[in-house]
Amino acid sequence: MTLTAPGTGARLAAPGTTVPFVPSTPLTGTTPHSSGRVTFPEGFLWGTATAAYQIEGAGAEDGRGESIWDVFCRIPGAVVHGDDGMVACDHYHRYREDVALMSRLHLGAYRFSTSWARVMPDGRTVNPKGLDFYSRLVDELLEADILPWLTLYHWDLPQALEEAGGWPARDTAYRFADYAVTMHEALGDRVTTWATLNEPYCSAFLGYTAGVHAPGRTSPELGLAAAHHLMLGHGLAVDALRARDPEATLGLTLNCTVSDPVDPTNPADVDAARRDDAMFNRVFLDPIFRGAYPQDLLDDVAHLNFADHVRPGDLEVISTPIDALGVNYYHGGAIAATPQSGERPDGTAGPEGERPADPSAPARDLRSPNPVPEGVHAHSRGLPLTDMGWEVQPEGLTRLLTRLQQDYTGPRGTSLVITENGAAFPDVVEADGSIDDQDRLDYIDRHLRAVRDAMDAGADVRGYFAWSLMDNFEWALGYTKRFGITRVDYATQERTVKASGHWYAGVARDNAVPARD
Ligand code: FCB
Repeated sequence: MTLTAPGTGARLAAPGTTVPFVPSTPLTGTTPHSSGRVTFPEGFLWGTATAAYQIEGAGAEDGRGESIWDVFCRIPGAVVHGDDGMVACDHYHRYREDVALMSRLHLGAYRFSTSWARVMPDGRTVNPKGLDFYSRLVDELLEADILPWLTLYHWDLPQALEEAGGWPARDTAYRFADYAVTMHEALGDRVTTWATLNEPYCSAFLGYTAGVHAPGRTSPELGLAAAHHLMLGHGLAVDALRARDPEATLGLTLNCTVSDPVDPTNPADVDAARRDDAMFNRVFLDPIFRGAYPQDLLDDVAHLNFADHVRPGDLEVISTPIDALGVNYYHGGAIAATPQSGERPDGTAGPEGERPADPSAPARDLRSPNPVPEGVHAHSRGLPLTDMGWEVQPEGLTRLLTRLQQDYTGPRGTSLVITENGAAFPDVVEADGSIDDQDRLDYIDRHLRAVRDAMDAGADVRGYFAWSLMDNFEWALGYTKRFGITRVDYATQERTVKASGHWYAGVARDNAVPARD
């Protein structure tokens, strides 16, 4: 089926309907759930998340086409050690073993993504063998009583569509909706939960503006065009899936942040935090939940021709109701108008923007992911860091969820699900082969308590997916960062559940976080 553009339309920004940026106050001291046993409501979903390119491997098997990540990995210096996803965790061949592992961990849900280039190698033509893999995976999950939580797009655009213009081209949104329908035709009899996109922020601004992710382009204009067309693709896909299946649970996943001004009494810092919030959060939240781009963001990017991409009717499509908003949270940011001493020279601000290219490889032309980065600087707060250099800031998750509930999801009756949260740490394998990753366990423990705090404050959170089921290909950082609650030995593909995985299995089994000692 081919979808065509709708004709009538809403205004670009509806005055008075956007939420002004109000910095929230960082929580201090202990929270109610800081140490005791914490229970979750009956039916709360416990799962783990992965993504196709990060785990599947089988890069050239059964007719799979190339995605932008296959091509990006071949650019010298783009990915640490020149790593790629050709083999990854070999999940394509080991999916039965991996589903059995989830069962042993008492997991009730599995968030995975489908590879567009595997099922439509040129982005348009169906490859039945590719569809068959996901059909077998879904059957295996259902057999194990694990809910398949399917994400249609976790960053791996078919290369053929990139060559036709990629996400900056409007047509890609229509191709995406066609792909969504193809997947639903194949799996809609068994899959009831569908997410369109994972983190459109990264697809648009890391891929087309910063150049640190595929396809590695570095243009503020292209990033903004991509952001709008990703939103349009999301809306078109939701409309198409809703028409096919009114009962399905539909949504998408955003990587929202918490932008705190470094000095809340300094108007320049407050404005820098406002701009960071606009480019991370409101650029997606407002069109989806309020049918309008925020006026302050439109003013900030007026010179970048953003509004030219927004056609009559687009915002109505984008704001079509969704049932669940997936939230990926790793940390927030302390934002100032001026650099902190020691800041990276590109002035990179915001969580994802901190990802470095391979320092040992030839220099590539990179820039900030923020299309208007001048005067927006992320500062360190001196909090403990993960192996990604990301600050450990669980209270930010409480504030994020309560804000989303109040300003966006609550009024629309949309529920919240944590679709990713977790941490990379340099694991140590003991002589007996075990991995006692107390740092990762502690990270997840603290964030689950923060989720419960938000639920007590009224956030309608229905589930939590740990990132990740197993160590995997961490994008531009290759295999150097380990996020798994299960270790993968890449030489043998052996999986070993870490201490955090054993602990998380207990959480899922008991529907409760045990007391800390
Ligand atoms: C998120 C991505 C996921 C993984 C984690 C660490 O931004 O969605 O694929 O890389 O970060």
